[in-house]
Amino acid sequence: MRRALCPGTFDPVTSGHLDIIVRASALFDEIVVGVALSPDKGGGPIFSVEERCGFIEVATAHLGNVVVQPFDTLLVDFAQKMDARAIIKGLRAVTDFEREFQMAQLNYRLDESIETMFIMSIPEYAYLSSSAVKEIARHGGSVRGLVPDVVCEALAARLKQSL
Ligand code: PNS
Repeated sequence: MRRALCPGTFDPVTSGHLDIIVRASALFDEIVVGVALSPDKGGGPIFSVEERCGFIEVATAHLGNVVVQPFDTLLVDFAQKMDARAIIKGLRAVTDFEREFQMAQLNYRLDESIETMFIMSIPEYAYLSSSAVKEIARHGGSVRGLVPDVVCEALAARLKQSL
């Protein structure tokens, strides 16, 4: 079975992430979406790892070959554990390239048996990010269409709580 890993922090998953997961799921027998705990990223995620996994499970339920797993280890170790031969990342604008290039090189250095592969974002999502979504929502803007509906509702509820 050809299995690939789509890793990220996904705080929260966006329509851009989903587009990459959907396209990757058409290329591999199974996709493992690896949700990193990332406790230190950007002051700490606003959603727990269980919530982040849950949103992706709901949004990918129709695909049939996507499983979602949290992880808190080196990415290559998690890929080995999941028996995934490839790491799939999305690339948006050129600004992503330097960071992704560095991670791909380091991951190759750590484990040469795992390939990092990139899927280009579609133009509609090229400037979409989880942090932009949170900022728009925090200021009362609409994020409908930028994230799956389940995230839209969870963001509204979370922001209401914090007022
Ligand atoms: O969505 P993100 O935050 O850009 O995802 C980054 C992620 C989770 C893929 C990256 O931080 C990662 O691989 N973390 C696991 C720890 C690790 O292996 N670090 C070394 C990579 S060079």
